[in-house]
Amino acid sequence: MRSETAPAIRLEDYQPPAYRIDKVHLDVRLDPQATMVTATLALAKAEGTADGTPLILDGDELVLTGLKLNGQDLPASAYEATAERLEISAPPATPFELTITTEINAEANTKLMGLYRSSGTFCTQCEAEGFRRITYFLDRPDVLAVYTTRLEALKTDCPVLLGNGNLVETGDAETPGHHYAVWHDPHPKPAYLFALVAGDLARHPDTFTTASGKMVELNIFVEHGKEGQCGWAMDSLKRSMRWDEEAFGREYDLDVFNIVAVSDFNMGAMENKGLNIFNDKYVLADPETATDQDYANIEAVIAHEYFHNWTGNRITCRDWFQLCLKEGLTVFRDQEFSADMRSRPVKRIADVRLLKSHQFPEDAGPLAHPVRPRVYHEINNFYTATVYEKGAEVVRMLKTLLGAQAFRAGLDLYFDRHDGEATTIEAFLACFEEAASTDLSQFALWYEQAGTPLVSVETRHDPDHETFTVSLSQEIPPVPGQKSSKPAVIPLRFGLIGPNGEDMDLTPADGSQASGDVLVLTKAQQDVTFRNVSSRPVLSLLRGFSAPIRLNQKLGSEDLLFLAAQDNDPFNRWQAVQTLAMQDLVRLSEATRRGEPGMPAQEVLEVFSAVMRDASLDDALKAQTLTLPSEADIAQEIGKDVDPDAIHAARQLMRRALARQLGMDLVPYVHAQTHNGAYSPDAEAAGKRALSNRALHYYAVSGAEDADQIVWDRFRTADNMTDRLAALTLLVHDHMAQEDVALEAYRTRHEKNSLAMDKWFMTQAMAPGSETLARVRVLMTHPLYDAGNPNRVRALLQSFATGNPTQFARSDGAGFKLIAESVLALDKRNPQVASRLLTSFRSWRALDPQRSALAESALLRISSCEDLSRDSRDIVDRTLQ
Ligand code: TRP
Ligand code: ZN
Repeated sequence: MRSETAPAIRLEDYQPPAYRIDKVHLDVRLDPQATMVTATLALAKAEGTADGTPLILDGDELVLTGLKLNGQDLPASAYEATAERLEISAPPATPFELTITTEINAEANTKLMGLYRSSGTFCTQCEAEGFRRITYFLDRPDVLAVYTTRLEALKTDCPVLLGNGNLVETGDAETPGHHYAVWHDPHPKPAYLFALVAGDLARHPDTFTTASGKMVELNIFVEHGKEGQCGWAMDSLKRSMRWDEEAFGREYDLDVFNIVAVSDFNMGAMENKGLNIFNDKYVLADPETATDQDYANIEAVIAHEYFHNWTGNRITCRDWFQLCLKEGLTVFRDQEFSADMRSRPVKRIADVRLLKSHQFPEDAGPLAHPVRPRVYHEINNFYTATVYEKGAEVVRMLKTLLGAQAFRAGLDLYFDRHDGEATTIEAFLACFEEAASTDLSQFALWYEQAGTPLVSVETRHDPDHETFTVSLSQEIPPVPGQKSSKPAVIPLRFGLIGPNGEDMDLTPADGSQASGDVLVLTKAQQDVTFRNVSSRPVLSLLRGFSAPIRLNQKLGSEDLLFLAAQDNDPFNRWQAVQTLAMQDLVRLSEATRRGEPGMPAQEVLEVFSAVMRDASLDDALKAQTLTLPSEADIAQEIGKDVDPDAIHAARQLMRRALARQLGMDLVPYVHAQTHNGAYSPDAEAAGKRALSNRALHYYAVSGAEDADQIVWDRFRTADNMTDRLAALTLLVHDHMAQEDVALEAYRTRHEKNSLAMDKWFMTQAMAPGSETLARVRVLMTHPLYDAGNPNRVRALLQSFATGNPTQFARSDGAGFKLIAESVLALDKRNPQVASRLLTSFRSWRALDPQRSALAESALLRISSCEDLSRDSRDIVDRTLQ
């Protein structure tokens, strides 16, 4: 026996709702085990609904304690209630009022969906389908209502009472010791944007004056004692608000914007109207506990949730198939914001690395799906890298194809036309078609087709006729459930670099070019010819990674070396160095596998030396360029019959060779003062630290006599988390003599700070070496391990499964076994966390036969479990199919 797969929900079955809910009044009496929720809904038949059509409301684990229609108790014969639904068999034909009372045990809610408690604070998470865990409702994004929320609680336990919108009233409640607050949100919204928070929290206040002169009150609420760690998040919020006005003409629309940080949260953060709720790791920062990467993430996530106010909240999704309408567009917006705040090329490289390391494998494996899926069993499993990251790339391509001006005009039209609506990708694209007078029907395939297109390129220079021809072709490799595919519209930013290193100014005769430097591939095969090309140029293609594709451009090493040294596009210069390293790493991996000793190619090592010495590169870009492709990246490039041990050995070999090659060049960076005076998280200072720590990463294995001492000193004397964690990672991952002492010192120093302790668990989980598995098992029994806290589970188990390829995919199967057991245990408590961990198996078929057989049996063991959650059932079924 095994649990049934949930029924398929299909895009083609979409039906508009039979009833409208115009107004919602919620009266919430908070109590840890027995919160009473009275929901008064103003309902009406939708246009076209026949009289007497039953009203079917969604529920999830609900207990109904009262039900009235127009103020009268409903007789039991008039309705049917289960934990999952409430059906009123024959509602009135004219508008009516339904009063529903439910009782909730927030303390027992371990799924962290609906109303739950985190460190004693009441909070909610309603996206995607959590509102139905609070009251019976038409819990779908195309039902928009105006909400008023009255919160009541014990004053001593919950001095802070927060809801969506503006605060309209507060006072003492009738019950002695209780008080209340009434919040009203004038903007109609779907239920997934509802939120409430009640607890004893500290407040970090500020204000913002909008472009039109309106003053907005800003607050960040955190646990007492953490007020001092909110400054960066607040600064990021104010910069986000200003940027959205300047870059997109979007102003904030309420009197107050509240952010609450909680320590138990399934995802990153949530854009509830006027009341964003955050995983505290995306709010809290100070130099002692947060790395530069943490600061950058906070800036990006604060911006992302704030930008949702327009792209997601003012204009929302008609149904969950349209998730990318808000997520892809909002990720694009937060990426652009970060690029403007920091270095644009550095940000682009970071985003592309993430896309290639997370989205590409998803798109190449059993969980592949289109940016807009057509079918799902569990919507929570579609908050994916494809919907978010590839979704953002699709918006970016639109901008590349239309040009900045037409793109902005299209977005303005979208905001104007669809404000206050729940809409679709078709409606979104229609705005750009109209604004730019263009046809986007072929472009729309990006939303429909799964899989990463592979673009092959060949070039021919004919010196006699002075022509240069670029032959392009595209195909999408087979994807589960997608038998064939059509050619996509692929914008390829390019340059033809002459022997002097300058870009040539050339236009092909045939109109295949969108603008000065973009070729547009629209057919399966296409030739583009440039004339008057006397000497052979080098083609720099896919500059800035202008499309989410794989490029098969068989550049000789001479051309690659030329691009690595000369490309005027910083992204492609970085890419050329990566490609050179990758080719050599693949070669070394395969040699290692055959037991043949290999040596890294000297010309590749010299490219890295040249990068190290290049004064024109800024520190952050230099640090990125000096980073070798990850083991997972190399595995992906190899694609099949993967042996993670051989890959690890090859990468370490290259790292050691580079350390010797870079030699004395490392010394000044290793000793560099990583900051002068007060610590600042800005991009320039962070770049300095990144480069210094990258140098240390090589120096540690350079064989220098003082290497161990220098790493240990960096750890001991670090006055910021970036440097301390970088050193700790070297001590632990390279198993240096001070490994245990350092871990102990770190633990003593940071024991009281759970975000800092997450890094302690993570560092140990990601250590290569066969003893790590046993260490992870011991850490699971550590007093600070908490299987109920998603951040802690991710720090230990997700890091092990996705960040430690040799140990997760151990050839004795013990890594798979650990994760399979953990998935089963977590699934009972929190299905979202369990199913996310389960996705770490997604590339199992690419492993060598012994390992893939072991992975398969771990998956079968999960699959044979009788009472799997819908979330995990869906992932395990698709992973095995
Ligand atoms: N809308 C959120 C975001 O991307 C995503 C999110 C937050 C979420 N919490 C969730 C999705 C819980 C599903 C379940 O900004
Ligand atoms: Zn989002």
